[in-house]
Parts: sequence; C-alpha cells; structure tokens
Amino acid sequence: MNLAVIGSGGREHSICYRLKESGKIKKLICIPGNAGTKNIAENININILDFNEVYKAIKNHNIDIVIVGPEEPLVNGIVDFLNKKGIRVLGPNKFASQLEGSKAFMKDLCKKNNIPTAKFGIFGNFDDAINFLKKSIMPIVVKADGLAAGKGVAICNSINEAKEKIKEILDGKFKSSKKVILEEFLKGEELSYFALVDKNSYQFFGSAQDHKKVGEGDTGPNTGGMGAYSPSNLLNEELEIKIKKKIIDPTLQAMKNLGHPYRGFLYAGLMISEGEPYLIEYNIRMGDPECQVLMMRLETDLLEIIDLATKDRLNEVKIEWSKTNCITIVLCAKGYPDKYIKNSEIKNLNLIKSDNSNQIFHAGTYEKNKKIFSIGGRVLNITSLGKDLIKARNNSLLNIKKIKWKDGFYRKDIGWRAIKNK
Ligand code: AMP
Ligand code: GLY
Repeated sequence: MNLAVIGSGGREHSICYRLKESGKIKKLICIPGNAGTKNIAENININILDFNEVYKAIKNHNIDIVIVGPEEPLVNGIVDFLNKKGIRVLGPNKFASQLEGSKAFMKDLCKKNNIPTAKFGIFGNFDDAINFLKKSIMPIVVKADGLAAGKGVAICNSINEAKEKIKEILDGKFKSSKKVILEEFLKGEELSYFALVDKNSYQFFGSAQDHKKVGEGDTGPNTGGMGAYSPSNLLNEELEIKIKKKIIDPTLQAMKNLGHPYRGFLYAGLMISEGEPYLIEYNIRMGDPECQVLMMRLETDLLEIIDLATKDRLNEVKIEWSKTNCITIVLCAKGYPDKYIKNSEIKNLNLIKSDNSNQIFHAGTYEKNKKIFSIGGRVLNITSLGKDLIKARNNSLLNIKKIKWKDGFYRKDIGWRAIKNK
C-alpha cells in the first residue's frame, strides 16, 4: 500500500518510522517532512494548507491512505476536501475538528452532555468578561477560543493580570479567536489519554505525560512540549473506566448526535483530581512529543490499524502495547520558545545507535551537503525505551550527550514527578 503522512515534526517522523516497519508498505511520502523522514520516506516540499497542491501530490504518487499529523489542516477541512475526491484519510472532518479548533465548542459540548470539566464562561466582549472575573476566585485560567499554537492559555494570579490577557485576546492577538474563555483553575495531575476512533468503535491508543514548560521542575514559559514519557503512572483500570464512561463515550455519542461521527486520533488532555478525571482540552490528532513515545511502545502493525480504522473496521484488530517505559527528550534551539537560533549545524548524530529501543526523531531539521542543520525551535527528539522510567531516561541522556551542538539545550528532568513518586 502507498501512504502519505502530512506534517514535518517529530510526531510525523515517528509515524513514518512505525509505518516503515510494516512489511506491507510499498511507498511512503511525507509532506513536507524533515531531514529524518527523508531517510525513510520521500519528502514532498509543498504547503500543507494548500489542499489542491496536497491532492496533486497524492494523485501523482497513487496514495491509498493519508494520515494528517497537525491540527491546522484538519481544522481547515482537509478531510472533507480529500474525502470528496475519493481519498481515504485518517482524521476528523472540519465540523468534528472544532473539538480542538474552538474551545467554546468543546466547553458547550461538555456542558450539554454533563462531561466533567472546569467551570467556565465564554465572552465576546470585555465588560461581560470583567463582570464574571470580579466574581471569580484566583487563580483563573484565561483562554483564547481558537487555535493558538499552545500560546492561547494563561493562568492568572490576579484580576489585573487576567484583565490584560482578556484584552489581548479580544483585541485580536490570536487571529482565530474572537471569544475568550474564563475557566476555574483545576488542581491535580495531568494525564494525556489517547484513543483511535472510527464510526463503529474506538480503542485506547496509549497514555503519556508531556512537559510543556521550558525549564526544569516545570518552570518558565509554555512550549510545544519539552519531552514526554509513556505510560503515565496515573492511569489504572478504575480510572480508565471513569475516563471512558464520563468523558470519551459521551463525547463520541454527542458527535454522532450532531451528525458528525468522530474519526481519527482523539487526544484528551485530562486533570486527575482526587481520582476523578476532568477534561482540560481535546486535541484532534496525536500529541507531539507524546506520539514519539507511543510509537516506540506500539506492538501491533500500524499500517493494519490505520487501514482498518479508515474502513470503519477497527474492531477487527486488537492494539497491543509493550510493557516497557519510553522517554523522549526534546533537543531545542537556544532561545526557544522565544526567538531562537536557526541554520546551525548539528554533528555526531551518526554516533547514536538506532534500533528498536533507541531512535532520534527529527523535527526542525534539514539536510544540506550531507550535513544536518536546525531550522525550528524543537529540533530533535531523543527517544529511548527502558525497563523503568529511570532506565529509559538514562538511555536517552546517554544518547543526547553524544550529540555535538553548541546551540542546543534540553531538560534533564523529563519524568521527574513520576520518578519522585516511585
Ligand atoms: P490547554 O491548551 O487548554 O491544554 O492548556 C494548556 C495547559 O494549561 C494545560 O496543559 C494545563 O497545564 C493548563 N490548564 C489549562 N486549563 C486549566 C485549568 N482549567 N486548570 C488548571 N490548569 C489548566
Ligand atoms: N504536546 C502537546 C500537544 O501535542 O498538544
């Protein structure tokens, strides 16, 4: 079979890696890909938001199934566009993508279907938001309605700080957002819970925990993710039953009732508070860097899973996970998440062994004259398995130390909470 993966991050590299392990792949293209996908797929350098161009590439390469990595093309309707042209795509349609594309849509759906989430208000004008704010307890969480590349959420400790954030959002800081959401601050521990969904059924697709803050000990500004581990130590059978019954099942039923059954990866960002799950957010795709650790632990043939899911026959396969632990540490360009260094050469990647337990997934890289250069903020994902979290982390740290890159930095403490609680 011929497959196309859309995206250029570590997530897409890890998906290509896992697909490539399947004996049934004939051709694999990555649109646009990076220096890592280049070694296992054909990179096609086009704009993923130009759907006509994407369609042309898919036709030219006789692609059977398309997997969409990032949220933006999904929210813009790439699935509707390609489906109309008879192409099989893994991902939700434009309507269902509102679960991530509009926090107001997601929160309203929770309210109507009694799905546990933080108490909230949605506002299109400043005065109404301020009236709500005056009655709220601090800290309060201020969120932009639309996509904001992880930058649309602020946890505010004072009314003045919250006022400033509300104003920024309503003044149009994030083009996709005309509304602001004010939300009660939930205490607890976070858990990322993944499901793969088709029209008829869904299956658990792993648990993980990412680290959004740039600094060790979870300090400093938010990033796209500085590292992740899987499985999460928070998930047990009892909690999983609650997550399915209180959150996933009613969401999927609600989408069906709205006439848009969900299909694709569904990522529930949860807060676990005194053993109870609360939905913080939905993402309509795999997480990055969570996908990287899940792909290392996946034991079932990914191509078979995706083939069946896109035929609404997911119930014919049982998705199995290795019992080992996996950690990925993200190597970033100095300056990230603010302005960062670009076009800087990274050396010695060839010194790191690449096997079933150790992989480097590329993100913001490109190759020129057989040399690897950085181009993004998050550049490489140094990913290792281990019998336990400490071993996984040590393996990953040993590998990262072999890389010669003066302009890079990383967190050495990925997994610290879980390791401390052991
Ligand atoms: P979101 O983009 O909605 O996932 O928010 C980004 C991060 O902000 C989450 O991963 C949480 O760490 C934090 N966050 C968001 N909403 C809340 C909330 N209601 N209470 C506590 N923390 C939150
Ligand atoms: N790692 C967070 C995300 O993918 O949204």
